[in-house]
Amino acid sequence: MITFDKCKCFKGNIKVPADKSITHRAVIMGSMADGVTVVRNPLISRDTLATMNIMQQLGVNIVNERSRLLIHSEGVKNFKEPYDILNCDNSGTTARLVMGVLAPNKFYSVLAGDASLLRRPMGRVINPLTKLGAVIKAKDNNNLLPATILPGNMKAGEIIAETKSAQVKSAVLLAGVQLDGTVTYVEKTPTRDHTERMLQAFGIKCENDNGKITVYGGDLQQTKLDVPADFSSAAFYIGAGLIFEGSEIVIENCGLNPSRIGLLNVLKDLGVDIKYEITSNEYEPIGNIYVTSGKIKGGKVSGDIIANMIDEIPVLAMTALFGEAPLEIRDAKELRVKESDRIAALINNFRALGAEIEEYEDGLKIYPLTKEPEKAKLLAYDDHRISMVNIILAKKFGVKVLMDNIASLDVSYPDFIGDLLSLEEK
Ligand code: S3P
Repeated sequence: MITFDKCKCFKGNIKVPADKSITHRAVIMGSMADGVTVVRNPLISRDTLATMNIMQQLGVNIVNERSRLLIHSEGVKNFKEPYDILNCDNSGTTARLVMGVLAPNKFYSVLAGDASLLRRPMGRVINPLTKLGAVIKAKDNNNLLPATILPGNMKAGEIIAETKSAQVKSAVLLAGVQLDGTVTYVEKTPTRDHTERMLQAFGIKCENDNGKITVYGGDLQQTKLDVPADFSSAAFYIGAGLIFEGSEIVIENCGLNPSRIGLLNVLKDLGVDIKYEITSNEYEPIGNIYVTSGKIKGGKVSGDIIANMIDEIPVLAMTALFGEAPLEIRDAKELRVKESDRIAALINNFRALGAEIEEYEDGLKIYPLTKEPEKAKLLAYDDHRISMVNIILAKKFGVKVLMDNIASLDVSYPDFIGDLLSLEEK
């Protein structure tokens, strides 16, 4: 069991690691492009290494200099049939995006992953790809990994989104760009648009007309790009800064893509105005975020905004433990099929701290803590984002809070503890 000393508050400037979603896409599209693509400031973590290993199994040569990746490829048309299964490890983004990349190929490949990924739904990607002519056979009625991708005959067409998921959209677009003609993906609820932006950075025409996203078939062109810092990692400092009175944190050079920063909009509605400024805007907006402590009002968060803050809900829920009134979060059923069932994980941990919580199939209602916990055990459920919330709570309450395994931090933020402690004021 792991414990931490209490700290007073957090102060200082921090650069969080590079964006996980964008790094996956840069590795994948750099591999699809013919030539040498340079990715500066990539995230090197368990998830992104899974994507890099898979691209290497497909015949791509990736030189990992840590501060940059040099991706040498002969292009997606020259991908080689892999000798072995492709292990996506813990990464849903890897599994779903790679499935889209491989679906139009004329060879045999098998995607698998770790115990958590083997439980996560894949029918959401297999179904739209199958509608376009892919042949994919997967466990449990074509819904779970391992999945076998067989040669098919994919044709351009239109897909109407059935799940609010950028991963599904990306899979369809990454298959679509390899087909003759255009593929259109229609989404009612906007989800993160990193794939659309990056396809354009690789020279591909990709348009969004009011949620009708059209990709034009073509060859990706080698490029050079920088990966901004990950807003989802920054969110843990936003949460920590809010709940530790006296905190003042500046998060530098962070990705501020409007489809990712729903948390900032929601916090504003809840009475906490986190200031930020955009300092550059190439293919993604980047800037600084200024966090000072504050208490959220209670209320209800639901509807389309959830898709733009899906990975930040554990942080928001944590701030509600220290809020002024109960906070209800709904329309967040997707949280049940992330790296863990995050609704259940948060509820179990918050109840262990003594909080009153109501559970819904699609969310939870959190009542602010009325006293310090006596002694609590917080479980990570092998989930990086739950681990980070637990660490912040352990810093809040000190040694009375015990934690189990937090090894999953390496999925998105291997140095989280060191970075957080570098800001601590005792
Ligand atoms: C991601 C999209 C989100 C998010 C995940 C990364 C991406 O998943 O939760 O951490 O990189 O596209 P869904 O699109 O399935 O909601």
